[in-house]
Amino acid sequence: MASRLKVVRTVPSLRRALEPYRTSGDRIALVPTMGALHRGHMALVREARQRAKCVVVSIFVNPTQFAPHEDFASYPRSFATDIKALREANVDFVWAPSVEAMYPAGFATRVAPAGAAKVGLEDEFRPHFFGGVATVVAKLFTQVSPDFALFGQKDYQQLRVITQMAADLNLPVKVIGVPTVREPDGLALSSRNVYLSAGERAVAPMLYRVLKDCAARIKNGEKIDRVLNVGRIEIDLAGFTLDYLEARHALTLAPIISRKDGPVRLLVAARLGKTRLIDNVGV
Ligand code: PAJ
Repeated sequence: MASRLKVVRTVPSLRRALEPYRTSGDRIALVPTMGALHRGHMALVREARQRAKCVVVSIFVNPTQFAPHEDFASYPRSFATDIKALREANVDFVWAPSVEAMYPAGFATRVAPAGAAKVGLEDEFRPHFFGGVATVVAKLFTQVSPDFALFGQKDYQQLRVITQMAADLNLPVKVIGVPTVREPDGLALSSRNVYLSAGERAVAPMLYRVLKDCAARIKNGEKIDRVLNVGRIEIDLAGFTLDYLEARHALTLAPIISRKDGPVRLLVAARLGKTRLIDNVGV
């Protein structure tokens, strides 16, 4: 299919490109990404395509959400392949600003999320992370002014933080969560899966297996803390270094003791060698 995909690199040219859609009242959908696109990202693009006349995918490896010791410099980048996939998916615009266009000299304002951003999950292990994510996503929302923005449930805490931020700042955008896309063996697709060695790749699906098993047992009426203790041991024995395996209220992400206290989400983060994997399931 012939495509009109255009790569846009500055805020003024982005505004110009989107102006005709805005004047004719056409819907705009935004899919924020850091590139290295896989089928998970493409599921968000498909959902965006169904909801809006104009689909914008941003590709920006955001330095403010990486700590100095993290993988900003080595984060996988595959711009040409990404563009090809997005063109085939009928995307209208790729918004790919430089770091200087996103954070010009003198940049001095940050968004500081609390609530779901401070519940002791990802924030405990990556304290800088949600400040960086909220700041860049607030900028993306202002730059693109989309009607819809699509995010993966794969990064569940991020989805909750961004949903809350959009509500708190009255940003006129509907934030939509899209279910996690997985490999046939259950491993959640992630740009960082390329870091896994063959041996680690064989062990990695265990994380989802434990999550599903824990969810089934909690649904069956077993006590949450007992189920999670067994799950933690299983993850440990499989060779992971566990950061957390927790049950939380699905909306607030506050700790939850019993299924009666609200919809439950199980969230896990664990390291295999140098790769950190996260995943989650509903109960
Ligand atoms: P990135 O890791 O590139 O992910 C972009 C979007 O794809 C996120 O909304 C993420 O949840 C979603 N995604 C990733 N893997 C997925 C999977 N297996 N199934 C479904 N969706 C999946 O998340 C970020 O980038 C950044 O933090 C960003 C929001 C772009 C801000 O910089």
